[in-house]
Amino acid sequence: MANIAVFASGNGSNFQSIAEAVQSGPHRICCVICDNPAACVITRAHSLGIPCHLVTYDNGGREQAEETILSLLKPCSIDLIVLAGFMRIISPLLLAAYRNRIVNIHPSLLPKHPGTQGIRKSYYSGDRELGVTVHYVDHGVDTGPVIAQESFIREGHESIEEIENTIHRIEHGVYPKVILHILDKIANVK
Ligand code: GRF
Repeated sequence: MANIAVFASGNGSNFQSIAEAVQSGPHRICCVICDNPAACVITRAHSLGIPCHLVTYDNGGREQAEETILSLLKPCSIDLIVLAGFMRIISPLLLAAYRNRIVNIHPSLLPKHPGTQGIRKSYYSGDRELGVTVHYVDHGVDTGPVIAQESFIREGHESIEEIENTIHRIEHGVYPKVILHILDKIANVK
């Protein structure tokens, strides 16, 4: 069995798909870390009975927020941190504590279109092949080693909403699959 923590700032649809995939197996989502009091992910976590900790970045900034996060994660023996729409840069403090144990999903075919607005940038790029990337998190913005990518070819007449829906549908398939695979590997060497 392996333990994960999901970090999210918004809607939480990826969190939901991961939670649904994890709940029928041996692994466990110990908690959600959220930095946004208005985020839908809080309600989703509540409905699924998964503890959600609201961590503010407003007062002491990122360093203090990450100290708080570290103290929340410590008692849970977290094996993997899963970023799912978490709109904060992870600092060297957390990166060092969870070396090679933080993953993220980005809604473009990295290294194309990193940073915020990945779907919008992809859509207006004119690229025919679009997709998503799951990658390890390093010191850069969406620069860590790629774990998996899944792409599709657009026809050209789709609206941005249609492309967004396609990207999210792909995310909800690929992210849980990759995470379960990593968790199985971690659990095997424990
Ligand atoms: C996803 O598109 C993900 O790729 C990006 O942020 C979005 C989060 O969506 N990093 P949700 O909150 O999981 O619905």
